[in-house]
Amino acid sequence: MRMRKKRHGSERLLALSALLYPDPGETAADPASVFGNGNPLVLEVGCGKGEFIAKLSLAEPEKNYIALERISDVAVVAVEKYARSRGLGDLAPNGGWLAPDGKLYRGGEAWEIPHELRGNVRFLVADAADFSAKVPDSSVAAILANFSDPWPGKGDSRRRLTSPAFLENYRRILAKDGIFRFKTDNDGLFDYTLETLPENGFRILWTTRDLHASERAASNIVTEYERNFTEKGVKIKMLEAAPVKSWSEGTVETKKST
Ligand SMILES: C[S@@+](CC[C@H](N)C(=O)[O-])C[C@H]1O[C@@H](n2cnc3c(N)ncnc32)[C@H](O)[C@@H]1O
Repeated sequence: MRMRKKRHGSERLLALSALLYPDPGETAADPASVFGNGNPLVLEVGCGKGEFIAKLSLAEPEKNYIALERISDVAVVAVEKYARSRGLGDLAPNGGWLAPDGKLYRGGEAWEIPHELRGNVRFLVADAADFSAKVPDSSVAAILANFSDPWPGKGDSRRRLTSPAFLENYRRILAKDGIFRFKTDNDGLFDYTLETLPENGFRILWTTRDLHASERAASNIVTEYERNFTEKGVKIKMLEAAPVKSWSEGTVETKKST
């Protein structure tokens, strides 16, 4: 995603840093301690400006969500959108934040948002490859990838979020009853993903080449990119896949998969 450098980007991210997932180092922080409950964990890779996760997390509140975005100037838009959608105030001048009780956090100050107001999403400015490598085996209920960059050049294929190295990690961290869900505008990336998933230990459960005309249209949450492509008349492709796991690979208790 191309984005002009945000003014006061780092101050803006700092103001809402209570909504960021802690990234302590070699292993991922324990989600139960971050969210204060053991609800099923959903990972969105490449959340962009965050409209999708803000809406999904309200529609399915019984889950916890980590939204990963590697560009911090994009992530800041997502965090602010989420905060606004939860009634947590609005942006103030110079990278500050105006809380709903009228208190102003000036640029460079962090608002220690009360735990009960933080909701069920945390954002992380990180590369999906780096973060997923730190996540324990079989601990994630769902991984969602929406409108990933297609990287059409052959030499760039390993950057695709559905290339073998990514899928290997997704398969490892997904619970036995976990789900990988993928939407794209791009036929080439869709075909590539339909090929790479079975080659890397996934079973394809469902596909469509016209999501908005499918039985899933009514429940579909439209992303920013999806809206743009749909307005241009591009049909949206979607698939769902499950990791193929042996019994010895263990499973985690998830209340319900996505
Ligand atoms: C084309 S945009 C789609 C954004 C959003 N999902 C949507 O549908 O509107 C892809 C996003 O994924 C992010 N991204 C690409 N590769 C990534 C990676 N390896 N880890 C984390 N984010 C990544 C990009 O920075 C970009 O914001």
